[in-house]
Amino acid sequence: MRIATLTSGGDCPGLNAVIRGIVRTATEYGSTVVGYEDGWVGLMEDRRIQLYDDENIDRILLRGGTILGTGRLHPDKFKSGLEQIRENLEEAGIDALIPIGGEGTLKGAKWLSDNGIPVVGVPKTIDNDVNGTDYTFGFDTAVSVATDAIDRLHTTAESHNRVMIVEVMGRHVGWIALHAGMAGGAHYIVIPEVPFDIAEITKAMERRFQLGEKYGIIVVAEGALPKPGTMDFTEGAVDQFGHQVFNGIGQVIGDEIKKRLGHDVRTTTLGHIQRGGTPTAFDRVLATRYGVHATRACHDKDFGKCVALRGEHVELIDLEDAVGKLKVVPDSRYRTARALFG
Ligand code: F6P
Repeated sequence: MRIATLTSGGDCPGLNAVIRGIVRTATEYGSTVVGYEDGWVGLMEDRRIQLYDDENIDRILLRGGTILGTGRLHPDKFKSGLEQIRENLEEAGIDALIPIGGEGTLKGAKWLSDNGIPVVGVPKTIDNDVNGTDYTFGFDTAVSVATDAIDRLHTTAESHNRVMIVEVMGRHVGWIALHAGMAGGAHYIVIPEVPFDIAEITKAMERRFQLGEKYGIIVVAEGALPKPGTMDFTEGAVDQFGHQVFNGIGQVIGDEIKKRLGHDVRTTTLGHIQRGGTPTAFDRVLATRYGVHATRACHDKDFGKCVALRGEHVELIDLEDAVGKLKVVPDSRYRTARALFG
């Protein structure tokens, strides 16, 4: 069998571990693997490289980013390239395609599958928002990086009697904010699923100082929004790929708290630091398992599916179930975190 893979959307620690898992498993079956460069664009432009099961592939387990490169493509452009994609895959003799990506990529994978292309998807995103899977790889690394940053901010915040705002990634969901905030002992966590009330956050900080505490840490997901009518905030525009551009909600919250509380406030935006570098052990293992299982599914001709972690097991779910909706932070999880606010 000849398998093709590609990585699409924002990069994520663990992508290379998936690629390695695919190549090594394919070799067991006597199959070969090619990788398309820069996501869907490379597939449409037929830019591909042969991936050999050698020591170079073996060593990419530890490497962040993706050796194939990645990219984004507007869904309309992608869909207009169907015949080109079909032709390129046929000419290259590809029997199965394993696209590795987030919700957008998996939607593309489903669309290809609906159009008769043999596809098995692999979910990835640091945001952990792909439906149907307990965890996506990359999330654990992002949470570890963000937690380490919060740990460090505690000491400098305490020394200066400051409120520290830490803005983390999370376009539509607050999983990184929730987990890093809880692990880092934040005094308030703001997530996109629950519009915030600036008066309530300010009060929580005020209470801390009244009780003799010297500082406060607030973790904010980049996609967080105020409750309508509680605060001025202009949402960013939408970029060429249809994605929301963020206007620095962490800084906005910081400025507002400073105004209301009269206390010294500093804001740190972690940005792409959360996505860079070597994956954690958890992400390496999960990504490797996804690569192995996706390759096995190709050989079983179990197409139109996506690998997913369900409890202890990696299973195959319908691509449709992975893309129908986003996996948001449930109320119960936020309520648990709230118990430790202030
Ligand atoms: O979807 C993953 C993600 O890291 C989001 O958390 C973030 O909003 C976005 O990608 C950033 O994308 P870009 O790399 O295009 O700035």
